[in-house]
Amino acid sequence: MKLEVKHLRKEFGKTVAVDDLSFTLHAGEILGMAGPNGSGKTTTMNIIATLDEPTSGDVLIDGVSVLEYPDAARRAIGFMPDYLPGQPDISAHEYIDFFARAYGFTGKNRKRRVNEIEEFTGVMPIRDKTLAALSRGMKQRVSLARALVHDPAILIMDEPANGLDPRARIEFRAYAKKVASLGKAVLVSSHILADLNDICTGCLVMELGRLKRRIEGDLKNIDLESVFMELTKGEVQ
Ligand SMILES: Nc1ncnc2c1ncn2[C@@H]1O[C@H](COP(=O)(O)OP(=O)(O)OP(=O)(O)O)[C@@H](O)[C@H]1O
Ligand SMILES: [Mg+2]
Repeated sequence: MKLEVKHLRKEFGKTVAVDDLSFTLHAGEILGMAGPNGSGKTTTMNIIATLDEPTSGDVLIDGVSVLEYPDAARRAIGFMPDYLPGQPDISAHEYIDFFARAYGFTGKNRKRRVNEIEEFTGVMPIRDKTLAALSRGMKQRVSLARALVHDPAILIMDEPANGLDPRARIEFRAYAKKVASLGKAVLVSSHILADLNDICTGCLVMELGRLKRRIEGDLKNIDLESVFMELTKGEVQ
């Protein structure tokens, strides 16, 4: 599996949210996205996940354009947005089951798949609780289960560590690695550079919609904070 972002540009009125952004991502990689507020991370992820359209440029999954074939892209991509699941009155299980149904799973097959993903994401012990009764960390597990239920080749996570306590953050890093070890490609944004240092096989540093640098290889021995400070000035548009 290969994801190619090609010369992506997104304008919102006079704001250029994404400016000639190109990068590739392969199966098994965990690519981080770092960048100050407003640097275009969410906009890029939304476009890859077919929730928004670019002004120009394209995104290809194994050579197939997500703009031309959004349904194929949606099968290939699991997206965890930067907000938590809503619908407070339904249980975690009902929530995940709803999405399995929407993806076309039926009967025993759906039951098996939902059980499997609840096991994988640690939702099983809390699956009968309503979403309103769950902690932030638990809601993130439910959100991950939802994003993975259709077994996508690519997982996109927008700020998954946002608001999580240290234990839940550590747990989340472990999930990201587990997902990549299944051979999925992972794209993850975070303001917590230590998290990216720990899990990523590469990192994009963005500012004002532009890619300032792509750092390659295991990030464990790289001082991402220093690189970030050197490359970004904290300007806003
Ligand atoms: N729907 C929209 N309408 C107008 N402007 C938008 C819209 N969405 C994003 N923008 C603008 O595009 C730019 C990039 O925003 P984006 O949310 O992609 O940044 P980000 O890197 O995800 O930021 P953060 O770290 O705060 O999540 C910002 O200047 C933002 O104000
Ligand atoms: Mg964002």
